[in-house]
Amino acid sequence: MKLSTESYKGVRDFYPEDAAVQDYIFSIWQEACKRFGYERYDASVLEPADLYRAKSGEEIVNEQTYTFRDRGDREVTLRPEMTPTVARMVAQRRRELAFPLRWYSIPNLFRYEQPQRGRLREHWQLNADIFGIANLEAEIEAIALSSYIMHAFGAKDDAFSIRINSRKLTDWVMKEYLALDDAAAAKLSKLVDRKEKMPAEDFEKQVGAIITNKTTGSFFDLLSSKNIDDFEKALGAHAASAHGIAEIKETLARLAKLGIKNAVFSPTLMRGFDYYTGIIFEVFDTDPRNRRSLFGGGRYDDLLGLFSASATDKVPAVGFGMGDVTIRDFLETRGLLPKPQSPIDLYLCVFEEAQFSFAEHLASTLRAGGVSVAIDFTARKIGDQIKVADKKHIRHVVCIGDAEVTSGSFKVKDITTGIERQVTEANLAEVLIAARKAQ
Ligand code: HAM
Repeated sequence: MKLSTESYKGVRDFYPEDAAVQDYIFSIWQEACKRFGYERYDASVLEPADLYRAKSGEEIVNEQTYTFRDRGDREVTLRPEMTPTVARMVAQRRRELAFPLRWYSIPNLFRYEQPQRGRLREHWQLNADIFGIANLEAEIEAIALSSYIMHAFGAKDDAFSIRINSRKLTDWVMKEYLALDDAAAAKLSKLVDRKEKMPAEDFEKQVGAIITNKTTGSFFDLLSSKNIDDFEKALGAHAASAHGIAEIKETLARLAKLGIKNAVFSPTLMRGFDYYTGIIFEVFDTDPRNRRSLFGGGRYDDLLGLFSASATDKVPAVGFGMGDVTIRDFLETRGLLPKPQSPIDLYLCVFEEAQFSFAEHLASTLRAGGVSVAIDFTARKIGDQIKVADKKHIRHVVCIGDAEVTSGSFKVKDITTGIERQVTEANLAEVLIAARKAQ
């Protein structure tokens, strides 16, 4: 039987050119996190299935996880998100850790989804979270870090918008203003979350089926508010008893003071997970043809308490998750990915087998001098060897023949410009390193 070369449905193979893009994305994430004082942590992809039952939401556990029984009859899940894992880790060492914690990680996550643009079954996700800060400074920092990362990728402010809402407000609207029970509130949140993806008529019909009293019309007014002041006006006398409005206003004002002007209140922003308790935010592409969500997060003050019997053991937390699939799409469609560039400084092309040993010695010397070198070793036509270097985006080649072996002087060719220069062995490493730095 012939084996298929296809990868498993919804996951990706990373050929070197894809791995290079992934390295680039990860390096921007890592640099930004370090700049903001975040420390890296990590964990296994395997977690006990129970971890996700408590707070991630039923949908994720029942429909979206890879869960199986191991040989010891334990129920195991391939992590679909990192937040429960990091909450578990922080809760375990709560008494020893020096709060506030600023932690980041780039885990691969698994969700059993219908693969489509921007949604796969395995993705990598930057998670940056702050533990131990109960005031809005944590939200401001998380959003500032998000904005910093987008700028580090080369995105301008008008390329993305940061939508903000508060779980305090959405919960108040659902439970008190609309007087819905938990099940109806959950159904309505999910519907509102999908509002932009469905025709207005369908949306109104489905909302009408959940909200049966006369508040339906005013609920639509709330959802169409352009800003938080409009929202307050639409609430009328009810505004006085609403929760969360002040924190939304304060967040937006504080962000504006920091120079982050593309943050907006969004009454339709819900975020999927049950664990959020305060400000929630999600970053969207502003391209009118493609107003997609890029990433999001929020405050989750009660999640760590689930690992303790005592109510006083709460640890306030704020963070976000940014996926590599959506970010890569964004960078590609906006032409923001850097040109492919090889990490190899020099490709040594060799005319004949007799010169291999000389090439190996030269490569060792250059490597000791800090240069990255690969040797061809096929003894094919020199033109073909140079083509290989070009295809791999290696910038410089040196061809080794009898003349080079005797003279110890080499013609360094820059494939991108065609320019050649004669360099002695003593100067070769220096020349190549200078060229790398100048790029
Ligand atoms: P989430 O909104 O489920 O949040 O995922 C965050 C981001 O991960 C998404 O906006 C998207 O970029 C990416 N993502 C999620 N699922 C997929 C998928 N199937 N394929 C490709 N990309 C995907 C969370 O996971 C929260 N735990 C984030 C968080 C951290 N909240 C607080 N701290």
